[in-house]
Amino acid sequence: MKTFDDIIIRRLELAQSYLALLRAQPGRPIALFAPRRVGKTYFLDGDLTPAAEKAGLFPVYADLWLNRFAPLAAINHALEEALDDVSVPKTSAGKIANTPVKKVGLFSASLELGAEPARRELPATPELRLDALITRLATVSGKPVLLMLDEIQSLSQAPNGEAAIATVRSVLQKHKKKLYAVFTGSSQEALGAMMVAAGGPMYQFAQLLTFPSLGSDYLSLLAAHYRDVHPTKDLKMVDLEPVFEHLGHKPALMKDLVKSMSADGVTDVTSALQRFMADDRNVAAWQGLFEKLLPLEQTVVVLLAHGIAPMAKDTLDVLATMPGLKSTLAKVRSALNRMRKSGLLWKPPQGTFQLEDQLFADYIAAKYVSNFIVDRKLKLAVPSQVAKG
Ligand SMILES: Nc1ncnc2c1ncn2[C@@H]1O[C@H](COP(=O)(O)OP(=O)(O)OP(=O)(O)O)[C@@H](O)[C@H]1O
Ligand SMILES: [Mg+2]
Repeated sequence: MKTFDDIIIRRLELAQSYLALLRAQPGRPIALFAPRRVGKTYFLDGDLTPAAEKAGLFPVYADLWLNRFAPLAAINHALEEALDDVSVPKTSAGKIANTPVKKVGLFSASLELGAEPARRELPATPELRLDALITRLATVSGKPVLLMLDEIQSLSQAPNGEAAIATVRSVLQKHKKKLYAVFTGSSQEALGAMMVAAGGPMYQFAQLLTFPSLGSDYLSLLAAHYRDVHPTKDLKMVDLEPVFEHLGHKPALMKDLVKSMSADGVTDVTSALQRFMADDRNVAAWQGLFEKLLPLEQTVVVLLAHGIAPMAKDTLDVLATMPGLKSTLAKVRSALNRMRKSGLLWKPPQGTFQLEDQLFADYIAAKYVSNFIVDRKLKLAVPSQVAKG
């Protein structure tokens, strides 16, 4: 291992367990949910794809975020690329061997060979095209297809997202034997709502699973590499673990922190985190993010950063009386939903709204604490009341 960036945790067992689940219930996809930046895409690419290949499936990956306004087109595009990959050989030897031979000289006679009968054109309507592509890909590759749809929650924002999910659903039902599917997303709620709209409850269609975060094994490797760089110094697991937990088990963030500790040759994780938080670039980004929000959104963010429920009765009572806000339950709810859609907030299954980025939450909580409105024992942090700086 040469650098911190080379540290990778492979999760083949997890991948195999998902494949076993898919096999056990043909026609039913699994939907993996987890907060942002915990390694969902990394897993699909680095673990599930090779495990699927090994198990005799043909994996196809589509990022729905890439084409949010035409999700079916994004899926079809991925399938068409995959179809090209199987039908058009990559090596030059393969290309030569596959170049159609029009005329073969055979002694003095010459034999005319027609081009192979061309396949029918794929249907232009995206729904029918998806259906035809699956059939064709499974036939050409000779393997069942594993369709991996990343960022599935972007379907809920697509103008025709419900129709798209309904199509995916019926294609999955129709091609039970030749198609498996795995979805990933960071908003279970958005997907659940979409499934209901698409004609059936989500839980009957996809099996919802919480995608597990990386654990201490990742921290051990970071600590081991730190020791390679600084043979006389040690990072203690008891120090690293709570910080990793606090960072929401986001590996890249944790790695950046340990990298900065390594650069400074320090071993105190808590003070390293404080320095990391005070970094000008982080501060500028967080403050910029905050200032772009509407006043009510800012207030809600400050409340959440302090762990105060914005929709609790007591909170709403105070918000309603605040000059300049005159907020209502409906306004708070739509502020929350707007910020969830933009990715600033997220809501764990059965949980309450949280700021997605814990460090942003820490920054806001630290900055906007000085003034509190005290009302019926409720302390509300209100950004408009706070001197900035
Ligand atoms: N298994 C792993 N081993 C080492 N590093 C990892 C692993 N998984 C993820 N990472 C690190 O975390 C980063 C984020 O991972 P990834 O993009 O897969 O997260 P995600 O959950 O798909 O995020 P998003 O919600 O933003 O799409 C990666 O770029 C990588 O640096
Ligand atoms: Mg991702």
